Amino acid sequence: MQESRFPYPPNPNGWFRVAYADQLGPGDVLPLTYFGSELVLYRAEDGTPAVLDAYCPHLGAHLGHGGRVEGDGLRCPFHAWKWGADGGCRDIPYAKKIPPRARIRSWPVRERNGLVLVWHHAEGKEPEWEIPELPEIGSDEWMPLEVRRWTVKSRWLDMNENAVDQAHFHFVHGTPSIPEAEVEVDGPVLCVRNVLRMSTPRGDIDARLVTTDYGPAFQTVHIAGGVDTLMVNTSTPIDDETTDVSFAYTVRKAADGSHERVGAARIRDLEHQFEQDRPIWENKTYHARPMLCDGDGDFGAYRRWMRQFFSVDY
Ligand code: FES
Ligand SMILES: [Fe+2]
Repeated sequence: MQESRFPYPPNPNGWFRVAYADQLGPGDVLPLTYFGSELVLYRAEDGTPAVLDAYCPHLGAHLGHGGRVEGDGLRCPFHAWKWGADGGCRDIPYAKKIPPRARIRSWPVRERNGLVLVWHHAEGKEPEWEIPELPEIGSDEWMPLEVRRWTVKSRWLDMNENAVDQAHFHFVHGTPSIPEAEVEVDGPVLCVRNVLRMSTPRGDIDARLVTTDYGPAFQTVHIAGGVDTLMVNTSTPIDDETTDVSFAYTVRKAADGSHERVGAARIRDLEHQFEQDRPIWENKTYHARPMLCDGDGDFGAYRRWMRQFFSVDY
């Protein structure tokens, strides 16, 4: 077997987007493949989302293919056992007694900012912190989110080193100078501030970028300058080497309507930057001890922050 490009486990501990909220209404069921596992997401009749392991403990049917929502639970398509959102077995229509150990794994779920998120923890610990509600989302002053998705052959925590990698902005993205980056860590939250030369339809401007990571897979980027922009970046491991990356963009509305044009140009620019990074990410390896120089950003701070999301040392 080929050695992994990454010395750390593929699935960090934290909150991960598994769907956009508008993908499913009450009573809908969605099969998912994340964390190298099969999962099922459904919305109970009252609208509450729930995520369970996909394979029925009885004889292994996939609950995401033909499972039916009933009240707060999901009935298996094979022999109609009913599983509750907490993973308990509620009903077996042809049995006198429910086997006491009949349980399916249920994942902690939150619905925030138009996303359905699950908590993954390698040791099965309960959520240790929460993802904040963002005031811009759903506000009249901001445009609705525009979502872009990519499947990338890499791991997010490696791609995400970008934020502290100030030299790459010049050499990969062509910014005229190498921006300074300021890094601040507060528990699971990492905040990186930099000033970046960006192009707009009205010419180049200095934009202030604030990149905030809430754990290993939920990131906001606030860009002030030109048009105020918010990106909500989320990533979920599909398997050991592949990540489902989603960037959702919104811009603040301007009284003269200019946000439509300027916002579209900003989004095109950011998408272009993603495509510039992508071939590097997909082909690079992760050096646990990189050969850094004095002009490099604060990789040490980034990597110390990142270690807290793993249950093993690496
Ligand atoms: S496999 Fe699910 S009820 Fe039998
Ligand atoms: Fe980049």
